[in-house]
Amino acid sequence: MNVIDFRSDTVTWPTPEMREAMANAAVGDDVYGEDPTVNELEAESAAILGKEAGLFVASGTMGNIIAALTHCGRGDEMILGREAHMFRYEAGSSAALGGIHPHILDMQPDGTLPLDAIRRAIRGDDEHFPRTRLICLENTQGTVGGIPITADYTAAVGALAREHGLKLHLDGARIFNAAAALDTTAAALAQDADSLSFCLSKGLCAPVGSVLVGSKAFIAQARRVRKSLGGGMRQAGILAAAGLIAVRVMTQRLHEDHANACLLAEGLAALPHIRLDLGKVQTNMVFFDLADDAPISPEQLTESLARDYQILMRPYPGHTRRFRAVTHYWIKPEHVQKTLAAFRELLA
Ligand SMILES: Cc1ncc(COP(=O)(O)O)c(C=O)c1O
Repeated sequence: MNVIDFRSDTVTWPTPEMREAMANAAVGDDVYGEDPTVNELEAESAAILGKEAGLFVASGTMGNIIAALTHCGRGDEMILGREAHMFRYEAGSSAALGGIHPHILDMQPDGTLPLDAIRRAIRGDDEHFPRTRLICLENTQGTVGGIPITADYTAAVGALAREHGLKLHLDGARIFNAAAALDTTAAALAQDADSLSFCLSKGLCAPVGSVLVGSKAFIAQARRVRKSLGGGMRQAGILAAAGLIAVRVMTQRLHEDHANACLLAEGLAALPHIRLDLGKVQTNMVFFDLADDAPISPEQLTESLARDYQILMRPYPGHTRRFRAVTHYWIKPEHVQKTLAAFRELLA
C-alpha cells in the first residue's frame, strides 16, 4: 500500500499469495452447491469454529442480517448492546428487512452486557410484548476499543439463552483477533453460540466476504435467506480462494497487529495533548482523544497527516475529538514509528 492507512482493517488489500490463489481457483456454480473452493472454505470455517456447517456470504453485515432473519420471525425481539455494530451501523436492517424489534441494553466499559440486565430484558409470555428470540454479542467489541470478550462470559450468556429457549448469535467479525488476544481458540469463544459470523475481509486481508457458521439445520435455512436477499453468488470460488488463505494463514499472525497497536498506543500516550487508556488496547484498535488544548484541531490533524505524511487517520464516526487507529497486515513497525514522529511534529 502506498499510504499508511489506519482508518480500519477493512482497507487491507489481498496479499500476493491471495491474488495467485484467486487466479488459479477451481470454481463451479455455488448456488447449485458446486463450487469446490466455496465448499472447502465453508467446511473448513465451520470446523475451525467448532460448528457443523458454514455459509459464504458477501459481507459481515450480510452474515449478521441472515442470522437475525433465520433465528427470528416478524415481530420477534432480539437483545443487543447499544454500541453493537448490528444496532448502530447496519442500516437498521433487522427491523427494515425482518420486522425484528431491537431491545437495546447499555454496555459495560469492557463491551459486555450485564447478565442481570439481559435477564430483565427477556420478555414474559404476554400478548402485549414482542417475543424474545435472540441475544446478540459482538467479539471483539469494536466500538469500545476492540475489546475481546471471554469464553466464560459468552458461556454465561449462552446458559441464560438456553434457560429461556433463546438463541445466541455472535457478531464475530474479528473473532480471530479475540482468540489471539485471549490466547485461546476461536472455537472456544464460539462454543456457546448458536451462530457466528466472521469477516474474511478485515484483518484477514481477503478482498470480500464473511462466513456464517452454525448447525446444519440453521445453515440450510440461512442458505434460503441468503438467496432471498440476492446473496447467492455463482463462481464465488475466486473469492473463497482468498478466504481459505485468510483462515489458514492470516489468522496465525494477528498478534503482530496487536503488538503494533501497543507500540502505537504507548508512543501516543507519551505525547502531550493525547488522552489514551492503555488498558483498553488489547487487540488491533487504538482509541484516543485529542485534548481541547492541543495546538491543532482534529480536522487539521487529519488533513495534515494525509497531506504531509501520507497517513490516513480520522475521528471515529459520531465523535469530534476521538480518533480510532486500526492496525493490520499492511502496517509494519516502521510505519508506526513514522506515525509517531509525525504526531510529535504536529503536537509540538
Ligand atoms: C463488529 C463488526 N461487525 C460487522 C461488520 C460489518 O462488516 P461489513 O462491512 O463486511 O458489512 C463490521 C464492519 O466493520 C464490524 O466492525
